[in-house]
Amino acid sequence: MKVVFLAPSYPPEMQQYTRGLAEVGATVYGVGDAPVGSLPTSLKRHMADYLQVPKLLDEDDVVNRVHAWMRGRSVDRVAANWEVMVLTAARLRERFGVPGMSVDTVRGFRDKQLMKDRVAAAGLRVPRAVRVRSATDAREGAAKLGFPLVLKPIAGAGSADTYEVRSARDLEVALAKMTHVEEASLEEFIEGEEFTYDTVSIGGKPAFANVAQYLPKPLIARSNEWVSPVIITVRDMAQPVIAKGVALGDKVLTALNMGDGFTHMEWFRKPDGEVVFGEIGCRPGGACLVDQMNYTCDIDLFREWARAVCWKAFEAPTRRKYNVAIIFKRAKGQGRISRITGLREFMRDYGEHVVDQKLLPIGSPRRNWKHTLLSDGWIILRHPSWDVAKKLADIVANDITMYAE
Ligand SMILES: Nc1ncnc2c1ncn2[C@@H]1O[C@H](COP(=O)(O)OP(=O)(O)OP(=O)(O)O)[C@@H](O)[C@H]1O
Ligand SMILES: [Mg+2]
Repeated sequence: MKVVFLAPSYPPEMQQYTRGLAEVGATVYGVGDAPVGSLPTSLKRHMADYLQVPKLLDEDDVVNRVHAWMRGRSVDRVAANWEVMVLTAARLRERFGVPGMSVDTVRGFRDKQLMKDRVAAAGLRVPRAVRVRSATDAREGAAKLGFPLVLKPIAGAGSADTYEVRSARDLEVALAKMTHVEEASLEEFIEGEEFTYDTVSIGGKPAFANVAQYLPKPLIARSNEWVSPVIITVRDMAQPVIAKGVALGDKVLTALNMGDGFTHMEWFRKPDGEVVFGEIGCRPGGACLVDQMNYTCDIDLFREWARAVCWKAFEAPTRRKYNVAIIFKRAKGQGRISRITGLREFMRDYGEHVVDQKLLPIGSPRRNWKHTLLSDGWIILRHPSWDVAKKLADIVANDITMYAE
């Protein structure tokens, strides 16, 4: 089983997928832009060979170079788990003639308007939306759709350039900030709670499935620095309120012709109980979501993903044991972390529930909270009871404070 894996070293969790591939018996050919000398030994030992390309995001160039590099060697799979590489992987699959999702299928997971069109064509509920390329398009779209609306880039990530638009005035303000964005989606604003639906799928059917709730919604967490964003995996997925989202998610996978691998979907539950599709990617969620899912069941999805992709099998138990919460912290002030209050007391009282603590140590420079959801670090904790997990997460959010100066 020879697997070309794109971007094996960055983002850092990709090193875990590389390990997973090696552990299920694959011979891994890594392709990245980092010099081979800079790769950690712990990663290099899982790869049979590595190609450094000058520009990882130059699709044509990467496709040509990888094709030439693998000449004379067989290829069985091409995989990527980083959003910006999933189309390149699909192009390489077509070039090598290996199984896996086609370019057209993957476009349905990358292009936000196309994905909504395909999901809607399957009779599923999506926000009403129009694709806009100019301010005039946007004003016409707003007249057609009515307020409130959301304006966001077609190929966005991390809620960048995403604006809540409640009036014609808001629209002008948002348009003025979006002049550098070529193509955007203007859509009906869905009020309600926001969840994920994550899977490791085999032939479009989930071998593993997960729901997590965002507290608060990402758009609010990404627009207000004082918020400590919380994401909690839901242990009991059979609850009626979640079950509707799961059913929607499964139908979305079919509608988009999902193959083997990770999916990460976002969906809304309106106050009246209706569930609405948000967006989906054919890759894992970022910001430690896979770690959270692993802690939910005490399993290793880095390896099970690899098994699904290579052998169409999944061997880990899927019994859910915990609600797993991650709480991201943002320091007050600028510069370097100078002080953390409340952490010692929290660990003394509730440390037994904490499975990971990665708050930036004193002296480290702050991270840019707009650029990374990781913020100035995080705590992951878990509990079999949702209410307790939520309460502990609230304590971390409210009573632990980081300072920078
Ligand atoms: N139609 C909508 N109604 C209400 N809120 C929305 C809508 N579209 C987007 N949002 C909010 O904006 C956030 C970002 O939008 P979306 O998920 O489409 O973009 P993204 O930038 O790809 O997100 P991510 O942060 O997952 O990378 C959503 O998580 C949600 O909170
Ligand atoms: Mg999103």
